[in-house]
This record gives sequence, C-alpha cells and structure tokens, in this order.
Amino acid sequence: MSETSTLVAQDITHRFGGALALDSVNFDVRGGEIHALLGENGAGKSTLVRILTGALTPDSGLVVVNGEGWRLRNPRQAQDLGIGVVYQDFHLFNHLSVAENIFSSSPHPPSRFGVSARRDMYAQSHELLASFGIEVDPRAQVSSLDAAEKKLIEICRALLRSPHYLILDEPTAALEPRETSKLLGVIDQLRARGTGVILVTHRLGEVAEIADRATALRNGVNAGSLTASEFSLESLAHLIVGQEVLVETGPQHVPGPTKLKVSDLQIRKDSRPVEVEVGARELVAVIGLIGSGVSTVMDTAAGAIVSRGARIEVDGISHQFRSRGQAQSLGIGAVPIDRKVSGLILNASVAKNTGLANLESYSRAGFTSRKKLRNAAEKSKELFDIRLQSVDQPVRSLSGGNQQKVMFGRWHQNGSNILVIQEPSQGVDIGARQEIHRYLISFAEQGGTVLFSSSDLEEVRVLAHRIYVMHAGEVVKILDNTGEDRPSRQALTQAMADTNLVGVDREVSL
Ligand SMILES: Nc1ncnc2c1ncn2[C@@H]1O[C@H](COP(=O)(O)OP(=O)(O)OP(=O)(O)O)[C@@H](O)[C@H]1O
Ligand SMILES: [Mg+2]
Repeated sequence: MSETSTLVAQDITHRFGGALALDSVNFDVRGGEIHALLGENGAGKSTLVRILTGALTPDSGLVVVNGEGWRLRNPRQAQDLGIGVVYQDFHLFNHLSVAENIFSSSPHPPSRFGVSARRDMYAQSHELLASFGIEVDPRAQVSSLDAAEKKLIEICRALLRSPHYLILDEPTAALEPRETSKLLGVIDQLRARGTGVILVTHRLGEVAEIADRATALRNGVNAGSLTASEFSLESLAHLIVGQEVLVETGPQHVPGPTKLKVSDLQIRKDSRPVEVEVGARELVAVIGLIGSGVSTVMDTAAGAIVSRGARIEVDGISHQFRSRGQAQSLGIGAVPIDRKVSGLILNASVAKNTGLANLESYSRAGFTSRKKLRNAAEKSKELFDIRLQSVDQPVRSLSGGNQQKVMFGRWHQNGSNILVIQEPSQGVDIGARQEIHRYLISFAEQGGTVLFSSSDLEEVRVLAHRIYVMHAGEVVKILDNTGEDRPSRQALTQAMADTNLVGVDREVSL
C-alpha cells in the first residue's frame, strides 16, 4: 500500500433529532497503523464508525479514502473502497451456518456455490476460525453459538475480504483473555501487512499493548490524542474523562452466611458435579475459558436454563428452577451475557424496560401506570448516571454502556437481593465501570449477594471475595481474593489455562 493510504473522517457533524452526536469531528487512520478510538459511553464512537462504513450518512462532512472525498450512501460503497467493519452489536444470520455467515458479505453468495465450492467455503472458514484457536464446526448453525464465538465469526467475515482498513467496534467486549490475545495477534499481523486498523475499546490495557495512537471523543467532540510513547493507564483514562481517575481497591467488608448455593450441576457426562456458593454480603466470581461451563453455571443460577438434577438453594431452601420468573420471585435479578437477546426489549422505552421485572407493582386495576414507571426510570437514571434524553426513548437508541445500566436499574428498582451477572461492565466506559463496581460493592455491603462471571480479570480482582475457576465443566480451583496474597492477573490466566489441575488442587476448601 502506498504511503498516502489514509482513511479520514473529515469535519463530520451529525445530529439524532435535536441531539448533536458528532460535532465537526476529524479522525484518521493510516495504512499500517492501529488507531484506538476511545470515549465514554455515548461519546459518539459507534456513530463515527457507522459513518465511516456507509451505514449512516452524516449531516455534513466527508469520508476521504486515499485522498478522494466521498459522501458514503450505503455499506456496499464503503466495502468496495476496502473498508471492513465489525459492529458493536451482533449482525449475524442466526438461521444460517457459520460458513454461510462468514461468506455472507462476499461477492459470491454461498447459495450459488457448487458442491466443490461449498467444500472450499467450509475449508476456508475452518482455517480462519482455527487462526483464533477455536474449534467451531463451519456447518453449525450460528444460533447454537455463544457470544464470543459469534463475535469471532463476525471478525472472520470481515477478514475474508482482506480490507485495507478494518474498523472494530469493541471486538473484545465478549471475548475472554485467551481469545483477546489471539485477536490482538491477528490485528498486529494486519498492521504489518499495511492494513489500517481502528480499534474502539474500553479496555485500556489493550490500547497500551497494541495501539500506535489513541484519540478520545468527548460528547461528540475530538478531545485530543496520545501516541504510544505517552500511553499509560492514567494518561489514557485522563484523556477519556478529562480529569484524574481514582485507582480501585476492591471490597473491604467481610461476607456473611451462605445465601445462594448451586449444587449437583453436572455439566458434562463424565464431569464432577459443580457446586458454587455465595454468602450474604459477598461477591463471588466464576471464571474460565470458553466452553469451560461458566455460562452454564450462571444461566442455571438465573433460571435462564433448566439444568437437569441441579439444585439451587436460596436461604437454605432447595429449588429446581424451571424459569427465570421463578428465580425472580425468589429475589434473584439477572443480567445476561447478551442483554439484547435475553435482557432488554430494544424497541420499548427505557421506562418500560426498567419496570419489566415487576410490572404489577407499577399497575393498578390491570393498567400499568406510565407515571410510576417513568418515576422509577428517572430514579435509576440518577443513580446510575444513565445518559439519555428522555426515559420515553426506546432502549435501542441508547449507547451500549447505557443499555447495560438500564439492566442494573431494573433490578435495583425491583428490590432484588441476589444478583447473577454475566460480564458486569461489558461495553461500559471506565467512568461507568467504576460506578457499576461501586454499586455492586455497596450492594453487597448492605447485605446483597453477587454471583458474577467476567472475562475481564482486572474486574475480577477488584470485585471478588472469592473466585471459582472452571475447566472442562468442573470447578478446578477456588481462590481467596481477600488476603495479602491475592492472585495476580497472571496467576488467574494460568489457573484457567492449566488443564493439569483438574481434580487436584483446591486452594480453599469450603
Ligand atoms: N439511532 C439513534 N437515535 C437517536 N440517538 C442515537 C442513535 N444512535 C446513537 N444515538 C445517540 O448518539 C450518541 C452517541 O452514541 P454512540 O452509540 O455513538 O456512542 P458510543 O461512543 O459508541 O458509546 P458506547 O461506548 O456506549 O458504545 C448517544 O447520545 C446516543 O444516545
Ligand atoms: Mg458504541
């Protein structure tokens, strides 16, 4: 690629209704460079991404590709100019196979393929997936996959076209550390080949590790940039929020007696049953590589799936959950991994979504009181600093991190005293992440019980009293995270990857 290869957002302004989402923004990436695009939730990152990929035409400004200015009208146009993208939310065809999805934006749609071409398609898909070290059958239907696998398929689809510029909008939010480092490796190779990469992320460790430059948007304005030699977690955080950011310390209080216990949960045919317990006033993390069974434990505890034989005890009384509703009625609030599929109703208002777990309490004589719903939503807006114009706004129009906060608001308003949360701060900016952490710690301090899973090991280290490590459907370690020798980040990574530990090494026995 020539030295003049650049992708530039030039003087971009865009409004949604009356609200100014981007205000004369300039941003560029050169071939062979990784440019991180940072900013708080709602700062305008995804809007800028959609403009650069033709999914949204701005009110004014141009997209300049290798020196030529364009007003992009549709995604196809951007694709033809060599711009590839992986959007923040999922854009897959659930009823199609993995390979068909990977090839879905290729110029030759798979349906027109002959038998040998299909075989090729499967082989190429397999190869691409293997580069991330995941064994997904290219013939499997996408609906059967978990969030991380889906994200990797979207990344493979973008890579298939060998784009000159690749824009990744929070690609690692759904990935665990091992997949994340694979992805960062792939991005590094792309850079070496001359591809210009725009990486949108809230994970500042990633930025420090791989980016050449970082630029932050603040309220739709370009707030400035740093180059690699200036990177530190503090300098990046400062760039994003415009002020000093405090270092987190973790929970200081002492947990109480067992409140929630999952037992006799057999995840694989031949695996030892899983047993996990969490006390009142306690925060417990479950971690593990993809396929280790973490999501099964979480979904079982939330009543989202029925695991045959599994017992769930709440306050010492044993239950076999048949539904989410049953878990809810026992005071369990759940934040699922994919809030868009099993958590929020995207087209309904923020107010409606806030009251969703408990519509009866907002009703009189069978009619839902919109005023009560709105009041509740206004309260959670205050509490969680949800950035929105009106609680009547559909959840769809909120930024990703703010959608997550609506979920927390729901359970807070509902008076749940047990929270079962997958990826508490997925897609949430550092400011909001700290608010969520402070909320969870104070929720526990006041008697609440928190069971959470997270692929973000820093989050695990600052939140959890205890950490369950899973491998191949079993709990292989239980780590105490309160004393002097709290596990390091490396120790946690090691514990998840180490297959030899199965059945041998329990550090804390219950
Ligand atoms: N379709 C839409 N209709 C109305 N407002 C929108 C729409 N899409 C985005 N917005 C608003 O534009 C602003 C920027 O949103 P955007 O999604 O670009 O933020 P972001 O920086 O990507 O945030 P996050 O980190 O949470 O993903 C927000 O105030 C958001 O509510
Ligand atoms: Mg976004």
